[in-house]
Amino acid sequence: MSSFIPTHEVREPTDFGDREYRGALVNVTNVCNLSCTHCFVFRADNPNRPKDKMDDATMLSQLETLRDRHGIRSMLFMGGEPMIRRELVMKAMPLFEHSSIVTNGTYGIPSVPGHLVTVSLDGPKELNDPIRGEGVYDKVKKAVFERDPNDGTTVMLQMTVTRQNEAGIEAFVEEVKDWPVTGIAFTFYVPSVDDQTALGWDDLHERDAVIERVMAVKRKYPERVKANLGALELMKSDRCLEVTGEHGETCGLRQMLPLYMGEGGNFERTFCCYGNNVDCTRCGAYAVFNGAYHRAAGTVEEG
Ligand SMILES: C[S@@+](CC[C@H](N)C(=O)[O-])C[C@H]1O[C@@H](n2cnc3c(N)ncnc32)[C@H](O)[C@@H]1O
Ligand code: SF4
Ligand code: SF4
Repeated sequence: MSSFIPTHEVREPTDFGDREYRGALVNVTNVCNLSCTHCFVFRADNPNRPKDKMDDATMLSQLETLRDRHGIRSMLFMGGEPMIRRELVMKAMPLFEHSSIVTNGTYGIPSVPGHLVTVSLDGPKELNDPIRGEGVYDKVKKAVFERDPNDGTTVMLQMTVTRQNEAGIEAFVEEVKDWPVTGIAFTFYVPSVDDQTALGWDDLHERDAVIERVMAVKRKYPERVKANLGALELMKSDRCLEVTGEHGETCGLRQMLPLYMGEGGNFERTFCCYGNNVDCTRCGAYAVFNGAYHRAAGTVEEG
């Protein structure tokens, strides 16, 4: 783990108390080149103004301070689009024992041996592009094929399933199963409390049928699809509330510190990684259920 010593005075980070957070995420920028239909970051109740920025030296110093203050061991670099600040991310990753990136892939796939890079792609081209933008599928595919598949980076494609792209689960897996990546992951839509988008399932029984389809592709391609059947069982309507609680009371992901970029370029924490005003009763965040599965089983999460 490295240490960063700034050459000029930088301001102290926001006071988030003194409790321990083993995991955190950081939105290194509120700028994004895409405007995906389902994106939680740019919802009205979240700190997300592109003009709120923190310079490299300040961010490196604040991340180090927060690491030491809260015992942060894992950091997820997010945004906006984190690869817009590629150099900063590369400098900040060694500050933590475990660092990973989630990116839209349109700036190329970073080579970070020993680390996880999650590349978002929301289905086959005809479903991905209406969500992520015209031409994005081809651009991301090109980036995936241009990278050195033996560079030691773990690269996962991640499809966020909503009602807009649920039809494409099987076709997506068929299309990408031979791509030079480590695997294919699925997560489901996290709505806001007052969600007006029609991207989520009002009746969770309908979502159950979609979860079953992800389970079926896992059974068909157990090596390529990185999903845990036990975790997906927990996401079903008869179990999900005991995992999340009505208001996130029992959600393991709330043990993470979400560092959003707030007013004046200062870190602000949100209710959870998915921002403020989230509807926990309809949360489809795979990580929540995978974490709960492993805690119950007494096993260790992968990745
Ligand atoms: C917010 S993006 C930020 C990083 C990068 N710009 C990207 O698209 O990967 C991180 C991940 O969250 C997913 N995501 C966005 N909105 C979501 C929502 N409402 N529910 C669940 N996942 C969501 C995206 O599809 C992406 O995989
Ligand atoms: S690329 Fe990522 S941050 Fe940008 S709008 Fe899409 S999901 Fe949100
Ligand atoms: S929205 Fe999901 S991740 Fe966020 S607190 Fe609620 S259950 Fe947890």
